[in-house]
Order: sequence, then C-alpha cells, then structure tokens
Amino acid sequence: MKTILRAAALLCACFAFASCERTADDRLVVGFAQIGSESGWRAAETRVAQEEAKTRGIDLRISDAQQRQENQIRAIRTYISQGVDAILLAPVVSTGWDSVLAEAKAANIPVVLLDRRIETADQSLYLSAVASDAVEEGRVAARWLAKTVADKPCNIIELQGTVGASVANDRKAGFAEIVAQHPSMHIVRSQSGDFTRSRAKEVMESMIRAEGGKGICAVYAHNDDMMIGAIQAMTEAGLKPGTDILTVSIDSVPDIFRAMADKQANATVELTPNMAGPAFDLLTAYLQKKAVPPKWVQTPSTLYLPDTAEAEYQARKTRY
Ligand code: AHR
Repeated sequence: MKTILRAAALLCACFAFASCERTADDRLVVGFAQIGSESGWRAAETRVAQEEAKTRGIDLRISDAQQRQENQIRAIRTYISQGVDAILLAPVVSTGWDSVLAEAKAANIPVVLLDRRIETADQSLYLSAVASDAVEEGRVAARWLAKTVADKPCNIIELQGTVGASVANDRKAGFAEIVAQHPSMHIVRSQSGDFTRSRAKEVMESMIRAEGGKGICAVYAHNDDMMIGAIQAMTEAGLKPGTDILTVSIDSVPDIFRAMADKQANATVELTPNMAGPAFDLLTAYLQKKAVPPKWVQTPSTLYLPDTAEAEYQARKTRY
C-alpha cells in the first residue's frame, strides 16, 4: 500500500515538477525543511547534515525558509509531491503544523523534528524529535549565574530567541525557574533578538540606553550569536562584558569560545549541531527494519567555562 501511495505521489509530482525524478539508484531521499541561516549554529547544523548524508549515501534535499513558516510549509509540500522517503523539519515556530504534517502522514512519509519542538494534540504527526532539553539549557545557564553571583544583587538582561520558537519559550522558562529561587536575582529587561547578531546588537544598545550600563550585572542570551552582538554593543558603550557584566548564552559556537578566551564572555551551554546524524540513523532503522524510534532523542546540554575556551576554540573553528 505504502509503495502504491509513494508511486502515485511520485507520478503526481512528475507532472508538477520538472526536476522531481527519483534517483535511479536505491539511495534514501530525504527532504530537509531548514529554517535558514540566522546563526552560526544553524549554518553548522546544515553543513553537518550535508556531511552526515554524504557519509551514509543519502540524497539530501535542503530548503532554506528564510525564517518563515510559510516557506517551510511550502517546502514540505514540495517534498511530499516529490515522493521523498522522509522529511526532516526544524520548525521555526512551535504551532501551526498540523495540516501539513497530516498531509505527510497521509502520504506515508515519516517526519523527524530537528532541534525545535512543535505543539500538537496528535503526536502521531511526527515519528521522532532529535532535540535538546531546552528548559534544562535555561536552568543550566541560570544555575551557573546564581553560583557565580553568590546571592549578591544581580540585575539581568535577557535576549530571547525568535518569538514563538519552542527553544525561545523553553530557554526562557528554565532560566526564570531558577532565577525565581534566588531573591537577589532579577530579570529587569527581556526582549527578542530573533537569534541574530544584528538584531541583538540593536536591542542591547537600546537596553543599555534605557537601563544605564552600570546597573547591569549579567546578560543571558538564548544563543551565542546574540551574545556576540550584545558584546559588541556593550564594548561600544564603554562597558566590559566578561568582567563588569557577566555573560551566559547557548550553542557553544567557535566565536563564543574566542570571546571567552579573550575574557569578553563567561559561559556557554552546548547544543550539538549534529542533529541530522541521529535522525538519519533512526530513519534508516525505521524504513529498513520497521524499528520504531523513541519519540525524543535527547542531545546533551554541557556547560563550558573559560578554562577550556582556547582549546575548544581551536578544536571547533574548522568544524563549524
Ligand atoms: O533551535 C536551535 C537554535 O536555533 C539555536 O540555539 C540558535 O542558534 C538557532 O538559531
């Protein structure tokens, strides 16, 4: 039945798309509805996905949605009409996926979520999710800060990720949970920098103007790229990030290790860019052996501090 549906989908696709022919060989064909390239981490995730696909001989088709959900939905529909074997989706926001994922399910195409989650009442709409515990990432960041300030008063600025993204909601919630346990710590301002350096720099500039640099004890950014933008804003305003103002962010990209080694940043929580490798493994087992994967393949959330920053920078700079 599945084969017939696939063949029908492929036939339809061939009327609609000039370049939709399945490869003559028996390679697995996977469509990847990627968000875009808003951060160094995102670019690394795409690059690693290409490498992991090449290693396994998978035909990987990647679309760049320019951070727009409607573009991701369009890409998924294209993959469905191409009759791909599976779809990877890094959902830019958490809601609004039910219809298009029901279409993939009706075409018997398994969907694996990468690095972000969706909100749905129907968990059967996706096969598995390869992602970190983003609430825990926020907790890890806040625990480090709480330990470092050791109950001294601390006004914190928070730079949030993309509005509506699961990781932005979860990283905010986890951080706030720990801060609430420490009466001396306060999140005084919190605004989205959309996971980009440029937007975060603008937001940080306006926060410094509003707050007055001296009153800021720490900056928590939902990703390293936003922290790099914030570091630029602080430095241009004559402040000393990493010394006068503590920083903690998430991803562990080479640039934040450079900043940590240069004493401009203090801590980062790692999010591995290798989300596609585990996804390809579980998809292969599922498609070839009907092995049902766990609903959530959790990636680790490790805290890195300046003592290993130079070594981590050297080790990672060519990998990203
Ligand atoms: O979903 C993962 C987040 O998306 C990364 O932390 C961030 O850099 C990216 O844009």
